[in-house]
Amino acid sequence: MMTKLLILGGTTEASLLARAVAGQGVGAVFSYAGRVDAPKAQPITTRVGGFGGVDGFANYIRQHNITHVVDATHPFAAQMSWNAFLASESVGVPLVALTRPAWVAQKGDDWEHVADIDGAVTALNGSARRVLLALGKQNVPAFSAQPQHHYVLRLVDEPKVAPDLPHHTVVVSRGPFDLAGDQALMRKHRVDLVVCKNSGGVGAEAKLVAARELRVPVVMINRPKVPPRREMATIKAVLDWAAI
Ligand SMILES: NC(=O)c1ccc[n+]([C@@H]2O[C@H](COP(=O)([O-])OP(=O)(O)OC[C@H]3O[C@@H](n4cnc5c(N)ncnc54)[C@H](OP(=O)(O)O)[C@@H]3O)[C@@H](O)[C@H]2O)c1
Repeated sequence: MMTKLLILGGTTEASLLARAVAGQGVGAVFSYAGRVDAPKAQPITTRVGGFGGVDGFANYIRQHNITHVVDATHPFAAQMSWNAFLASESVGVPLVALTRPAWVAQKGDDWEHVADIDGAVTALNGSARRVLLALGKQNVPAFSAQPQHHYVLRLVDEPKVAPDLPHHTVVVSRGPFDLAGDQALMRKHRVDLVVCKNSGGVGAEAKLVAARELRVPVVMINRPKVPPRREMATIKAVLDWAAI
């Protein structure tokens, strides 16, 4: 059977893989969830939107003759990762995940680790602060439980509905971010706390270096549990695995 790769995207690494696969003479489809208004264009066939759970994913694999699945989603997209893992197993199509190591605190960092978004909300108990909320729009509503803070919301798109936070500033900006930009952002908004997910990778790391240099503490949300799939750290390893 002709190789046909399905790349689950939404990350810098997924886009790099798509670029590496394009023009290699193999079938390849890139999949976006559809969370942002204008997703980055890809050099391979692209589809947008959910598959419809585990069964929907299994049907998609069969109907489109997918031979290999690469889960290159964000480490916090655990639902998608579980669906892809279970569906690929049930259909008998091999799957690997293209992953990046979690960030580890370095000398000078002041991180409080929390288990999840609820843990981050609880960590904000106390008097008013100026918080850089470096999270996706879907995670913002939880922070209305701590309305005393001023939140700087860095979002990919301008929100269509105003966030239910009495004090906030929206900064519309799409990564990758750099140190000078993140330092300037944190200085301009007098940020004295950062809340973020332990995404790993380089595209979103600058805020941690900026926080270290500006001596701003960080509430670091640990990664969710992902399925026991085979993981690969490089694009070359994925290409070798798929014999491309
Ligand atoms: N979570 C984050 O912090 C974060 C950060 C940066 C980028 N992203 C990217 O944003 C997307 C959504 O993340 P999430 O955390 O909301 O996902 P999630 O909670 O794991 O997934 C929820 C549902 O969204 C659909 N979905 C997710 N990723 C998809 C993809 N690549 N292609 C098609 N459908 C997808 C699936 O719907 P069905 O069940 O209908 O198939 C899935 O069950 C992912 O592609 C991820 O890589 C996420």
